[in-house]
Amino acid sequence: MFSVACITGLYGCKAHLLHYVLFCMPSRDILAEAQLEVKLNGIPEGKVLVVKWRGKPVFIYHRSQSIINQERAVNLSELRDPETDNDRAKRSEWLIVMGICTHLGCVPIPNAGLIPGGFFCPCHGSHFDAAGRIRKGPAMTNLEIPEYSFIDDNNIIIG
Ligand code: FES
Repeated sequence: MFSVACITGLYGCKAHLLHYVLFCMPSRDILAEAQLEVKLNGIPEGKVLVVKWRGKPVFIYHRSQSIINQERAVNLSELRDPETDNDRAKRSEWLIVMGICTHLGCVPIPNAGLIPGGFFCPCHGSHFDAAGRIRKGPAMTNLEIPEYSFIDDNNIIIG
């Protein structure tokens, strides 16, 4: 009698445990969205490709040498949220940032605003430079940089 009760109890525990583990596991859709591979070789210099990752826009900006020079010449003491261009771009010709304004979450417009090659958020007038650093307007912080890595010279993986 006792062993029957134990076995029944163990099966009950297993069922609960399985239910809990399956409930906590991310679905296939979520796993598929967790990482996004992007080919870079179709993005012309000076252009920004917008991709959707985890339901949010990500800007992939192919920067020209003159824009890189412009951002590298910025004096950090002028910045509200000081970060060097080097800190923000793993490879200088590619800037990868979340396309979400850090003020209240609108989507900024690439290649617009006061800073040449920068981003402008029309909702309340935040201007970000071509490294995604806040330069003017109500946003207090730079555009966020998602987790990403280079697979090779022409491919990145976001996430
Ligand atoms: Fe971008 Fe307010 S949401 S400036």
